[in-house]
Amino acid sequence: MAEDEHGGQLRTVTSSERQVSTGTSLPVTDGFENPGLPEHTPRITDTDPSAAKRIERLIAVVFWVSLAASIFAVVAYFVWPINRDDFASIRLNNLFLGVGIATSMLTLGVGIAAWGKYLMQDHELVESRHITKGSPATRARAVEIFAQANEESGFGRRTLLRNSLIGAVLALPIPGIVLFRDLYNGNNPDPVELLSETMWDKGIRLVRDPTGTPILASEVTIGSVFHVIPDGLIDLEHGMLEEKAKAVVLLMRLPQDRLIESEQRKSWSYNGIVAYSKVCTHVGCPVALYEQQTHHLLCPCHQSQFDVTEHCKVIFGPAGRPLPQLPITVDNDGYLVAQSDFHEPVGPSFWDRKHDYNI
Ligand code: FES
Repeated sequence: MAEDEHGGQLRTVTSSERQVSTGTSLPVTDGFENPGLPEHTPRITDTDPSAAKRIERLIAVVFWVSLAASIFAVVAYFVWPINRDDFASIRLNNLFLGVGIATSMLTLGVGIAAWGKYLMQDHELVESRHITKGSPATRARAVEIFAQANEESGFGRRTLLRNSLIGAVLALPIPGIVLFRDLYNGNNPDPVELLSETMWDKGIRLVRDPTGTPILASEVTIGSVFHVIPDGLIDLEHGMLEEKAKAVVLLMRLPQDRLIESEQRKSWSYNGIVAYSKVCTHVGCPVALYEQQTHHLLCPCHQSQFDVTEHCKVIFGPAGRPLPQLPITVDNDGYLVAQSDFHEPVGPSFWDRKHDYNI
């Protein structure tokens, strides 16, 4: 029998040891009496081979259910595809994918737990505590234990269980891999083009998000901030979310002497009122935190900061370029309107890299 570095032996508890202190070589310092281990009761699978066989088949069925659920998740992905204009299709897709993946993971876990609980060997051990690194003898014993565990768990012997477990484990990641298919751009338009055109155009009113009410220039006081969408967006029957994701804008008014504007863009603001894309130029989170005193915009995702006084240039964080500015003015009724669309693509800067590296 193997020994640990303290000379202690690793062995199975005998019935005469059941009432002695177990599990530690440290002296007992409290006044509680060690109750010892309860009497060991053999399980039905220890005493009845036919019961063990029944349980084995049952667990195999559970693994097959896991495998079937993984396949169901893959099938559901194709049978209930996401139609961008139909919220019901998103719900159905998420529901059936979720049911398939959750069932496959749950049944796989239940099957593994049941295998350990009902079929693996059920005995108790006494082991002395020792420093983390084991002696050569301890490590040799560990190898011995692995071999013993393999024998006792039946992993090598119970081929039906082992193979069904392997099948279920192999099938588990398949739904996740299939989901990566959504990253394939296929025949969709170039994302640079997609992000270069938004609903903004000459004369389109800036309206509040989400009510759609237009904004008088006189309503925008210094220090205030408005979340803005183009007029007509909420009336769209198709693609409203996609259009909104590109066209959302933050509107702020600064004291005019705080604005440092380039010659080219002097006419893009109106009496200190400026409008910038709300889509972060890092990876596209909504930039929604405005610091009135410093006139900084903060993106909550990775803490990029933009200076509104200087065309939203990046002053901190991973964003690759300033937020695109929307040129604005007022119409005859005093409502704020766009002068044109953005002059550059909104959102993440990968389009920039595309041109840099000529991909
Ligand atoms: S998305 Fe804004 S900092 Fe990363």
